[in-house]
Amino acid sequence: MPQPPQHAQTPWTPNRWRDRPAAQLPDYDDTAALAEVEERLARSLPLVFTGEIRTLRQQLAEVAAGRAFLLQGGDCAESFADFHERAITDTFRVLLQMAVVLTFAAACPVVKVGRMAGQFAKPRSAPTETRDGMTLPSYRGDIINALDFTPEARWPDPRRQLRAYSQSAATLNLLRALAQDGFAGLHRVQQWNLDFLRASPQGARYRDLAGRISETLDFMRACGLNAVAAPQVRQVQFYTSHEALLLGYEQALTRCDPATGEWYDGSAHFLWIGERTRQLEGAHVAFLRGVANPIGLKLGPTADADTLLRLLDILNPDDQPGRLTLISRMGADKIDIALPPLIRAVQREGRQVIWSCDPMHGNTIESHTGYKTRPFGRILDEVRRFFAIHHAEGSYPGGMHFELTGQDVTECLGGAQAITEQGLADRYHTQCDPRLNASQSLELAFLIAEMLKEQRRTSGADAESVAEGGPR
Ligand code: PEP
Ligand code: CO
Repeated sequence: MPQPPQHAQTPWTPNRWRDRPAAQLPDYDDTAALAEVEERLARSLPLVFTGEIRTLRQQLAEVAAGRAFLLQGGDCAESFADFHERAITDTFRVLLQMAVVLTFAAACPVVKVGRMAGQFAKPRSAPTETRDGMTLPSYRGDIINALDFTPEARWPDPRRQLRAYSQSAATLNLLRALAQDGFAGLHRVQQWNLDFLRASPQGARYRDLAGRISETLDFMRACGLNAVAAPQVRQVQFYTSHEALLLGYEQALTRCDPATGEWYDGSAHFLWIGERTRQLEGAHVAFLRGVANPIGLKLGPTADADTLLRLLDILNPDDQPGRLTLISRMGADKIDIALPPLIRAVQREGRQVIWSCDPMHGNTIESHTGYKTRPFGRILDEVRRFFAIHHAEGSYPGGMHFELTGQDVTECLGGAQAITEQGLADRYHTQCDPRLNASQSLELAFLIAEMLKEQRRTSGADAESVAEGGPR
C-alpha cells in the first residue's frame, strides 16, 4: 500500500504549502512589496462567507448523489481592461439561460457557479515567451503581470493582487445584486435573452422555452399557488470560483471559522487545482487539502488511476460527498481511452466524487489564420462521449465546466452561426483561451439538456428529484 505523502500526515496550516515545490508561481523580485501586499490582503475582508460555502457544499452533495447538476462557466481569464458592468451582466445572463434550459428541459436542479470574481491567474505551458529575438516572462494573468509584450508589462508586480482583490469585490457586489433583486427571478426569464440573440435560432428556441415557463407560473398562480412570491422563484443562488493558482493570495484570504475550527478560503466559494499544478507532493495540493471549501481537480489525458486515488486520499480523506469535483478535460480524441480507467478506479474504491466535463481545454487548436481556437464540433463531441462513457460505466455525469462569455465574440469555430476561420478575426477579444459566445453556449445547453434528460430517464433519477426537491 503506498504511503500518503509526508505533508498529508502533519497538521495543516495555511502556510504549509511554502516548503513544497510550487509549479507555475511567478518569480517576484520585489519581495518587500510582496510581503506588504500579502499582509494587507490578510487584513482585508473575505469576499465570500462560510455559510455560503457550506450551502454550496450541501448542494454539491446533491450533485454527487445524482440529484442535481453542476453548471460552471465564465472567462478563461478576467482582465483589468475589460471590466464593465455590461460584460458581467451578460455572462451572468447566459449562465442563467443555460441553467434554466437544463432545469426545465431535463427537470433537474442546477447548481450555478461562475468562473468569475477572481479568475485572474493563469498557468502557462512555458515560463518565457520569445518574439523577434526578445525573450520575456510569459503572461500569467492580470493578477500577476500584463499582456503587452514589453519588459515593464511582463514584470510580475505584487501590487496587482490588490487590484484583483478589489475588482473581484466589485464584481461580486454586482453579481449578488443581480442574483437577489429580482433580475434573476424566473418571472423575468423572457428578459434574459440577449439583444443580439433574439433573431437567431437559439434565441427563438429560448424564447419558446421561456414562454412555457411563464405560462407554467401563470397557471400555478391561477391555481392559487403564488409561486412567483417564493424565494426559489424570485432569486437565484449563484457562486463564484477560480483556479487556486497564486497561493500567496489564496493564503492571505484564508480564515479560521471560530465556530467549527475549519479553515475557509474567502477568495471564492469553489476553488480548483489546475492540470499543471496537481503534483502529489506539490504546493497546490498541500494548500487545497486544508481548506473546507468544495474543490475541483482538473484531469487531463495523462492522469493515471493510481495517482488519482492518492489525490483523493489527500484531498478528501473522509470521502465527503460534494467536497471534490473531478473535472476531466481530455480532448474529444482521447476521452474514450483516458476517462474510463479513472471512473473504474473511483468506483472500485467506492469513492464519492462529482464527475464534471471541461470540453474546452483538450480541444484547442491553431487556426490556419493563426488564432488559438476551438471547433464547436469537437467540444460537442467531447460532451457526447462524456455522457456515453458515464452511461456505459454506470456513473453519473454530474456537471459541465465551460469557458464562455455573454458577449458576441468570434473565438470558437462553428456552431449554428457557423463562425469560420476568416470570421475569427471579427471579434476575437479573449485575454487567454477562446470562449464560447452566448449563442454557442445556449446551443450547447439545449444539446446537453437532451442528453441529461435521457440519462435521468434511463436511471430513474427524474422521479426521485421531483419527490425530494433540491437546489434550484
Ligand atoms: C483553465 O481552466 O483555464 C485551465 C488552464 O485549465 P487546465 O488546468 O485544465 O489546463
Ligand atoms: Co483556459
